[in-house]
Amino acid sequence: MLDESKFDVNFQLLALRIPREFCKIATRLLNGYLLDKPRVKPITEDPTSEKNRYMVLSEKVQNPDLSDIPMQKLDELRKLCEVEVVPYSLTLGYSYWTADHILKQILPPGVEVPSSFETIGHVAHLNIHDELLPFKDVIAKVIYDKNYPRIKTVVNKVGTITNEFRVPKFEILAGESDMVTEVKQYGATFKLDYGLVYWNSRLEHEHVRLVSLFRPGETICDMFAGIGPFAIPAAQRGCLVYANDLNPDSIHYLKINAKINKVDDCVFAYNMDARKFVSQLMAVPVCEVNLESNDSTIKACDTFSMKGIHDAKAEDRNFGVEEKEVAGNDAKDEPEGMKNSSRTVHASVVAIKRPSDCFTEENGNAQSEHKKKGNTQKRMKESVLSKAKAWEHVDHVIMNLPASALQFLDAFRGIISRKHWKGPLPLVHCYCFIRATETKEFIISEAETALNAKIQDPIFHRVRDVAPNKAMFCLSFRLPEACFVEDITDSTCHFTGGL
Ligand SMILES: C[S@@+](CC[C@H](N)C(=O)[O-])C[C@H]1O[C@@H](n2cnc3c(N)ncnc32)[C@H](O)[C@@H]1O
Repeated sequence: MLDESKFDVNFQLLALRIPREFCKIATRLLNGYLLDKPRVKPITEDPTSEKNRYMVLSEKVQNPDLSDIPMQKLDELRKLCEVEVVPYSLTLGYSYWTADHILKQILPPGVEVPSSFETIGHVAHLNIHDELLPFKDVIAKVIYDKNYPRIKTVVNKVGTITNEFRVPKFEILAGESDMVTEVKQYGATFKLDYGLVYWNSRLEHEHVRLVSLFRPGETICDMFAGIGPFAIPAAQRGCLVYANDLNPDSIHYLKINAKINKVDDCVFAYNMDARKFVSQLMAVPVCEVNLESNDSTIKACDTFSMKGIHDAKAEDRNFGVEEKEVAGNDAKDEPEGMKNSSRTVHASVVAIKRPSDCFTEENGNAQSEHKKKGNTQKRMKESVLSKAKAWEHVDHVIMNLPASALQFLDAFRGIISRKHWKGPLPLVHCYCFIRATETKEFIISEAETALNAKIQDPIFHRVRDVAPNKAMFCLSFRLPEACFVEDITDSTCHFTGGL
């Protein structure tokens, strides 16, 4: 229990009672001698007369004869109006003091006061050290009281992160238990359940930095996309984005965020392991391999590929043809609306649209295309025939799982067909941690081992320090040509429908 009255501090001060019309000039004359406390006005009402005001003097004016104020100033004021000195009692309580001030009084001397915290929408995330755990409830209450209504929930991280979704376990210490919140970053809105998905506000600059390297019309493959802090702004920039995450809740919110930010035309969401995702996305499908020799195979393949990919699960296969439902304004109310209904549409009733149309040269923005459709009330169905097939070209691959992304580079072994690939191989942006005891050469050798290929001209970008001896880096490099597979055999072709 927090006894708020314990924080009351009383100040016995003096005030000048003067006619209210002289307050302005008196404020100028008494500059430096009036009460000077943040958020407390030195001019207050006179409880005995509407016509007067109290000008509260600072603590340094102690004598009722006002000898602490220069005579000349007082004479000037007295020439203007009648001035009466009155005692003034001021009490500043719990509601006045800052969280830092209050916590310093509650916590043992010498400890670091945890008055700062990470903010995720309405959620305040504290990391309370072991020594302060006995005070966690009172710390949370003070943080809550001092930041409400901006902060409605105060949580503390419990233990270390052990799950593969990189979601910490939280205990709710103060406020409502609702962890579904909204965050704004660089003009995009992200909805998320902070208790179910990964989110780190401290990565904002990195998200902006990397996305600024992408050009409109490029194809991006985000292997560990989370709720979309790379994918959504990349799509807003006019890129076509294939975004994957193993956590179904992340994909749930990724899709919601694509809709909120009006880029659902350009973001294709997958929920599977990243290795499987890459191999399904970038390996040449059997139908393509057979294209030159067998027409009937193509037709069979096209029919198969009419399954929607917006909800592509591990068992789905369709990276070349996208079919989904566009519901005009209605779509806002049902972000999951495309989930089931769109899968049953026949090829004969759908319109064809290319992902590359997401970006139009005139406006450089994927959103205008969406806006045009946004006004249509009637539902229509459309499918997307990919011009930029991912087994023919991807511009950038994002791998933000710093603890183990390097190991996932083996996903690129033997899947990209030299014969089918067009243009340069993708630039890979692989995040990693580097400890003080490790070198960049060691990291490169790890990456090369996983790829089974030599990396040319790697670039390291220091993202942030995560611990005194550990920093997060982004290693960018072009996927080596040695990753190409020369001949497509049955073992490198995927998606025959048997998955
Ligand atoms: C560090 S978070 C990065 C999320 C997002 N890209 C960001 O920058 O905030 C890593 C993400 O990888 C996902 N993940 C972990 N293991 C995975 C795997 N084997 N395959 C695909 N995604 C995985 C987690 O669920 C998590 O959302």
